[in-house]
Amino acid sequence: MAKKNLKKGIFITFEGPEGSGKSTHVRLLCSELRRRGLPVVCLREPGGTKIGEKIRNILLDAKNKDMDAVCEMLLYQAARAQLVREKILSALRDKKIVILDRFLDATICYQGYGAGIDIKLIKQIGKFVTGGICPDLTILLDIEAGKGLKRSGRRDRIEKKSLEFHRRVRKGYLKLARENPHRIKIIPVMDEISQTQGAIREVLWRLKI
Ligand code: TMP
Repeated sequence: MAKKNLKKGIFITFEGPEGSGKSTHVRLLCSELRRRGLPVVCLREPGGTKIGEKIRNILLDAKNKDMDAVCEMLLYQAARAQLVREKILSALRDKKIVILDRFLDATICYQGYGAGIDIKLIKQIGKFVTGGICPDLTILLDIEAGKGLKRSGRRDRIEKKSLEFHRRVRKGYLKLARENPHRIKIIPVMDEISQTQGAIREVLWRLKI
């Protein structure tokens, strides 16, 4: 298919509690956009750059049990600073569609609502590291915390946190969605991957890309 040119870059993020199937849906959506000839850059947080992937390994290593919550929050933001500057800004400038698996909302929900770090401070640091860029659309794949954890297998350091922690994370996401109804669209995770993916695409086509 012929390559399509966009008038401007489009920034789309995916969020959700553990076990929502986010990464699978990001992959399926990116292949569909490429199939349609759209210029798409698919990235994840923490990670997406050489340095970011190293930070990811530190953050998710289940052996790092004694990591302090402030250290954790700053490492997520550090990986984000690298990704924004190394990849996201230039892709948006080149009028590409950036699909990002997690962004600042994740720090607000996990380290803020989950771990109790001041949300205003997380937002301030977030603004500093991102230069204030905000997604055009955020897909929130919603799943009940206990159900999601069962699906995830609870292998990494964050997945191993308590059920209560993950319930607070999910509540945080739903609160953010209520506060930002134009940007954040909630899609309940359905039994069939194709049903959930269909609902995601419906939301996306409404952007008229
Ligand atoms: P993933 O499982 O979606 O790849 O994300 C990695 C883990 O990191 C997941 O448990 C959520 C967590 N996380 C945070 O706690 N804060 C953040 O800012 C981000 C981006 C992810």
